[in-house]
Amino acid sequence: MQTLVVFASGTGSNCAAIIKFFKSQTPRKAEVALVVSNNPNAGVLTIAAANNIETCLISKDGAAHPELLLKLQEIKPALIVLAGYLRKLPAAIIDLFPERILNIHPALLPDFGGKGMYGRHVHEAVIAAGRTQSGITIHYVDQHYDQGDVLLQARISVLPGETPDSLAQRIHRLEHFYLPRTIEFLLSN
Ligand code: GRF
Repeated sequence: MQTLVVFASGTGSNCAAIIKFFKSQTPRKAEVALVVSNNPNAGVLTIAAANNIETCLISKDGAAHPELLLKLQEIKPALIVLAGYLRKLPAAIIDLFPERILNIHPALLPDFGGKGMYGRHVHEAVIAAGRTQSGITIHYVDQHYDQGDVLLQARISVLPGETPDSLAQRIHRLEHFYLPRTIEFLLSN
């Protein structure tokens, strides 16, 4: 079975979707071996504990602790998935796992990406700009925020009367469907 490591700073619904997807397979192609968070109050830590997954809490600024680097080298993850991770990943980690780190962004990059564009801010900006479509982008991670090669984009219409909350909910459904399946595709290709 291949191993995955998830980095997340918040609720962790995408992490939960990944765990559920691979748990429901027979035979299982992958499992989440470690969840890393820079937020001691992150919901994702509760999700990991409920699924008996090891967790690693790092400092709020997301600095690369030597213990974390060692742990990652020991686990040798097939993929590292940033699922709502709000810090820049240290270069030391990016260098160790070239083309093996993915991020999910709740909009159609390159629009509405970059520093400060996360969560609700993204959906507010999409609606304020009068866009009729939004979506998700799953991309490789490099040294710059939201700029690595795009692997997958999926889009939905922005509905009349849409609010940031309603758009966020619909985008999350899209993410929960496509993120585990994109991971599965990469693992088998
Ligand atoms: C997702 O919308 C993802 O695209 C973004 O952060 C959000 C995380 O949501 N990068 P959750 O914590 O997985 O519920």
